[in-house]
Amino acid sequence: MNSQEQTLIDRNLALEVVRVTEAAALAASKLIGRGDEKEADAVAVDAMRDSLNSLTIRGRVVIGEGERDEAPMLYIGEEVGLGWRTGQGPKIDIALDPLEGTTITAQGGNNALSVVAMTDEGGFLNAPDVYMEKMAVGAHIHPSALDLDAPIGDVLRNVSVQKGAKVEDLMVCILDRPRHKDLIQAVREAGARITLIQDGDVSAVIATADPQTGIDLYVGSGGAPEGVLAAAALQCIGGFMLGRLVFRNKDEIARAERWGITDRQKIYTTSDLAQSENVIFAATGVTDGTMLRGVRRFPGGAKTSSIVMRSKSGTVRRVEAEHNFNRKTWVSGV
Ligand code: FBP
Repeated sequence: MNSQEQTLIDRNLALEVVRVTEAAALAASKLIGRGDEKEADAVAVDAMRDSLNSLTIRGRVVIGEGERDEAPMLYIGEEVGLGWRTGQGPKIDIALDPLEGTTITAQGGNNALSVVAMTDEGGFLNAPDVYMEKMAVGAHIHPSALDLDAPIGDVLRNVSVQKGAKVEDLMVCILDRPRHKDLIQAVREAGARITLIQDGDVSAVIATADPQTGIDLYVGSGGAPEGVLAAAALQCIGGFMLGRLVFRNKDEIARAERWGITDRQKIYTTSDLAQSENVIFAATGVTDGTMLRGVRRFPGGAKTSSIVMRSKSGTVRRVEAEHNFNRKTWVSGV
């Protein structure tokens, strides 16, 4: 395949991928506020898998619902896409989270998303399902401002200098967890303001890339798979992130070793988590968030709000779609 044909495939795929996140978000939207995290996740997984299997790709799940023995569908290593049957379509690695924010959805909170990222084979870190320390800023802040080992006050001063603002005016986003008690205190002592979020750090990392959100820095530990998804988004929209895996026990170390990770102290940059050359990232809002509106259901249909971007071109598209359930029979679980 020549490079022109490759570009055509990538461009078309970027528009196809948004159907995948739309399908998962539409399915999950039926479960908003019903208190059933498992069911919300299950319907999103089902819909996303069906939709991925309609794409002419030979896809392999790299970041998915878990290891094969713990996830029946969209497990790590699962092959998806029509291409496996027809022998057509590019070979692609896929990072996905059909429902990023299962608790948010079950409780009817903010910032639940359906997310997919795609790249060439080998382009994403095979991140084990452990925690990752994360620090992220948008493209307007130089990466040198970040340091996972420096006191957070120093990082905040770096960011404030880069932004030309006072530390007091910075807004830091942190997951509201007991494990972040000291971090939260240190940020407050340094003088910055904090937005505490209940869940959903993919959306929080991406928020640093959009000055409109008012979030200057994301910091704290969250899921490592979510770290790869967030890095994929930053490769498209611009921004920088550092990550370091956190191991709490031997089982987690063994998980990492299964994926070939031997340097447990390694600090990953955005490019280590997701290559920069050829990434496609798509997300659809399930519930309202900083970046996207949630699904609006109405009799016979629903509206979705999505974002789809490509690292190669840097194009960021916002896609507002109106779905007619009476006609669109192919979307499962809506
Ligand atoms: P789920 O959708 O899998 O529930 O993940 C939500 C989330 O908040 C992620 O955004 C975040 O990375 C992770 O959970 C944090 O983990 P924990 O809830 O254990 O602190």
